[in-house]
Formats: sequence, C-alpha cells, structure tokens
Amino acid sequence: MPIQITYHGHACFGIQTDTANLLIDPFLTGNAMADVTPEQVSPDYILVSHAHGDHLGDALPIARRTGATVISNYEIANYMGKHGVKAHAMHIGGAHVFPFGKVKLTIAHHGSSFPDGGYGGNPCGFLLWLEGKLLYFAGDTALTCDMTLYGAEGIDVAMLPIGDNFTMGPEDAVKAVGFLQPKTAILMHYDTFPVIAQDAQAVAAEVKAKTKAEPVILKPGETLVVA
Ligand code: NI
Ligand code: MN
Repeated sequence: MPIQITYHGHACFGIQTDTANLLIDPFLTGNAMADVTPEQVSPDYILVSHAHGDHLGDALPIARRTGATVISNYEIANYMGKHGVKAHAMHIGGAHVFPFGKVKLTIAHHGSSFPDGGYGGNPCGFLLWLEGKLLYFAGDTALTCDMTLYGAEGIDVAMLPIGDNFTMGPEDAVKAVGFLQPKTAILMHYDTFPVIAQDAQAVAAEVKAKTKAEPVILKPGETLVVA
C-alpha cells in the first residue's frame, strides 16, 4: 500500500505506512483547523519538531492513551520520559533506523521553548525515509541554504510552512521549493491564526510557475497518496 499523508490542520500530519502510523506535531486541542480530536488518533509514533504549543500540542496525552513512542530532540524526549511516556531522543544531524524507516533531524531556524517557558532544546525538521520514498517535514523554519543539502537526497514530498511572521512566508517558501526540488510540495502552517493568513492558492500558483514541483493544498482531513 502506498504511503498516505493526511493533513489535520496547521502543521499536524498523519502518515500511514504499511508498518506504522506516524503523527507529526499533534496540535489538535485549541486548533480551529483540526479535523480530529486527540481521542480520534491512534499513532504508533509521534514526531515533535519543537516545544511550542502549536506543535507539541496534545503529544503527551495522546502518547499516554495510545502508548505511542515520541520521537523528538533530547530535551523534549526527556520531558516526555519524565511524564511517563516512551520517548526516543535524537538531535539535529542525527539519524536513526526505526522499525518503520529512517528518521533524520534537520536544522530549523526558530525557537523551541515549552508553553511554560521551559527549555525545549533546538527546533528541528524531519527527513523520513519510508518504504522507498523520502519525505521532508520542514517544521517551523526560515529559509535556509541547508535545504539544498536535503534536496540532494532526492525528496518525493516536502511539507513547508508558508504562513510568514513566525516562519517562512510565501516568497521564501517558493525559494525553498527551488532548493529542495521535491516532486510534491504540501503547504502548511497558514490560516490557523489571523497573523499567518495566506492565499495558499496564490502560493501554489507561484510554486507551479517557478519550480518543477507539484504544489498540493490539503484541506484538513484530506489525504495525499504518495504514488
Ligand atoms: Ni513554533
Ligand atoms: Mn508554529
């Protein structure tokens, strides 16, 4: 079965492979864009890009209920462990082969404090080698030249923020697609709050005009099948 990527609004994605259900940045409670509640997801692994509330989200209660393993940076993994859930600590540049595939933490230019102000380590993105496909989840980040390095790996699907203000905006996101050269670019991290409202259709049109990637806009609840 091909990999299925389901958007749950903001920066939350469910990724279903033959062997595992992954959930990235499960900000569901308090997310007006979310199509599911924390009780409606059943991941085997939860990937957390940084500790900001709109990414850490419901990771802890979901992991407690499902027994999912949290994959994140050392500081967030430690926090999860202290709160009694399974966690696998990694850090930027490091890769690990899990039963479902390989995960590598990438650079994200951003912050990562917990909602209470506690230290959440450095923010990251993820390269995910799953069943012969390479996915890149940028996380919250500025445009960075490092993306050319990730692009050299041969990315099938990139998930990129376009919201501006806290992350790359439309112009830099289009440049990022140029650096990454993915076959498909899914737009994320926009419209959740007024300050990150964007015309995603216009961004998609720019991606189509200026890069070789196929832009994809998923409504919350919609799924991209990675053929
Ligand atoms: Ni953030
Ligand atoms: Mn964010």
